[in-house]
Amino acid sequence: MSEEKKEYKFLELARKRSSCRKYLSKEVTDEQIKIILESARIAPSACNKQPWRFAVVKNCEVKTKLIKEGTLFGINMDWAIGASVIIVVGEKKSFITHKVAPQISKIDYSLIDIGIVGEHIVLQATELGLGTCWIGWIKPDEVRRIVDWEKDIKPLALITVGYPAEPLEKEKLRFPIEKTTKFI
Ligand SMILES: Cc1cc2nc3c(=O)[nH]c(=O)nc-3n(C[C@H](O)[C@H](O)[C@H](O)COP(=O)(O)O)c2cc1C
Repeated sequence: MSEEKKEYKFLELARKRSSCRKYLSKEVTDEQIKIILESARIAPSACNKQPWRFAVVKNCEVKTKLIKEGTLFGINMDWAIGASVIIVVGEKKSFITHKVAPQISKIDYSLIDIGIVGEHIVLQATELGLGTCWIGWIKPDEVRRIVDWEKDIKPLALITVGYPAEPLEKEKLRFPIEKTTKFI
C-alpha cells in the first residue's frame, strides 16, 4: 500500500468501495444497520430539509418482490435478492426548497441531497466491511406500492447491503481528472 493511501483514510475508503453484486448468506446486524442509518441521518441537504426517506427491507419475500416487480427490463438483478438488506431510498419534497426554488434556479436540490445521503450509506457500509450496490433502474410506482409508502414519497433508488462474496476493491475504470476538470 502506498504512503498516500495510508495517510488519507477517506480516499482509502472511497477506493475500497465498488459495486457488489454477489453476497454471502450471512446477515447484516441491526447494530450495523443503525450505524449506516446514523451516517445517513447526519448528511447535509439544501436548507437542511432532509428530503430522504428510507425503507429497510430484510424480509426475503419483500426483497424478492422489489427485484422481480420493482426493477425495469433488460438487466437481470436477481443477485440483489441475495443481499441481506435492501434499503429503499425515497424522496419527499418540501414546497419551497424542492418545488419553488428549483423553478428559479433550475437545480434539483432534492436529487442532489438523495445522492449525498445514498453515498453516506454506501461508504459507511464499506467501512463496516459490507458490500453495496446502487440500483436506479427501478419502477418508482411499483416500489412505492411494495413498501407501502404514501404518494408524496418517490422511490429513487435501492441500495443492496450485505457481506461480499468476493473482495470489494476492484480496478476503477474512471476518466482522468483532466477530462472532467477545468483549473482556472
Ligand atoms: C445512481 C446509480 C444508479 C445505479 N443503478 C444500477 C442498477 O440499476 N443496476 C446495477 O447493477 N448497478 C447500478 N449502479 C452501479 C453502477 O453501475 C456502478 O456504480 C458503476 O458502474 C461504477 O462501478 P463501481 O460502483 O463498481 O465503482 C448504479 C449506480 C448509481 C450511482
